[in-house]
Amino acid sequence: MPDQWLPPIKWAGDAVAILDQRVLPHREKFLYCSTPEQVINAIKTMAIRGAPAVGVAGALALALGARSIRTDDPKEFRQKFLKLCNKVKNARPTGANLGWAVEILYSIVVENPKAPISELQKLIVDRANGILEEDVAVNLRMGKWGREVVAKGARILTYCNAGALATADYGTAIGVIRAAFEEDPTLSVYSCETRPFLQGARLTVFELMRAGIPATLITDNAVGSLMSRGMIDLVVVGADRIAANGDTANKIGTYMVAVLAWTHGIPFYIAAPRSTIDQGLPDGSGIPIEQRDPGEVTSLNGKRIAPRGANALNPAFDVTPYKYISGIITEVGVLRKPFAKTIRKALQA
Ligand code: MRU
Repeated sequence: MPDQWLPPIKWAGDAVAILDQRVLPHREKFLYCSTPEQVINAIKTMAIRGAPAVGVAGALALALGARSIRTDDPKEFRQKFLKLCNKVKNARPTGANLGWAVEILYSIVVENPKAPISELQKLIVDRANGILEEDVAVNLRMGKWGREVVAKGARILTYCNAGALATADYGTAIGVIRAAFEEDPTLSVYSCETRPFLQGARLTVFELMRAGIPATLITDNAVGSLMSRGMIDLVVVGADRIAANGDTANKIGTYMVAVLAWTHGIPFYIAAPRSTIDQGLPDGSGIPIEQRDPGEVTSLNGKRIAPRGANALNPAFDVTPYKYISGIITEVGVLRKPFAKTIRKALQA
């Protein structure tokens, strides 16, 4: 079933094949990475993006790295692997899934102090593959839970791209929409274009069209107008990092959408796997916000639109305070307020 989506990352023999999202929807081109550095570069340059997909890419980068460390000395292997873990973890700062995946793989080395190198390599590669496979299973479960918040015929607004391309497959927010659509083909979606990187215009609309889900592209600044005219029934978006109290970082502009939804009494849901939750952060104030090249703001599709020398600011994410969030759809159910309590319980489930 998920095959009709676009797995953005998979093994191709000994290489990691990454669907280059920078050239979508016009070209479907794969980058074949045979070194962890190539995967790190693909993450940094947004060839692969979306917090869960970046987590999976990090895991596969470490699998490639573990296999290629050349030494007979277990101590040296551990040191080199730790160094690589740090490099991978720092590829992008905001999404929690990357650090989560790196932690899991590094703990293999810590928890098996006596294991020979060959065994560690096998454990790391197997676990990385587990992270890839589990992500799809988790999204399918999230979709089933999420269906319950989607009323018949709902006109759903989504932001950025939280689809198959942002995960190992199927998607989080779009996974929920897809699951709901299977039961109710009358629902429809508004996708915000999502300046400056245009994930909504390029990727979300592309995915929804492929799935046959009615989709309408709108500019980001049309959201308030549509809501005030009663054209939106529900908002479902993904997340990059969720603090212990439910404050949620997602693509820049999400906060704006959440406040507008609150103002118009429209339910606003986050769909995210538990690997996006950062229990170490009591609230959203500590979430690191990636600052990207201002050139992404001063130009569009590589063409300069602002005067030469214009100043620009390009925070890639913002934080939506939990107050504006109606619920968090996870693979273990839809979490409601008080999130501090329901999140804690969900992490123990
Ligand atoms: O900068 P991006 O494209 O990686 O940002 C992606 C988002 O903000 C997504 O909404 C989020 O990662 C959730 S994807 C399931």
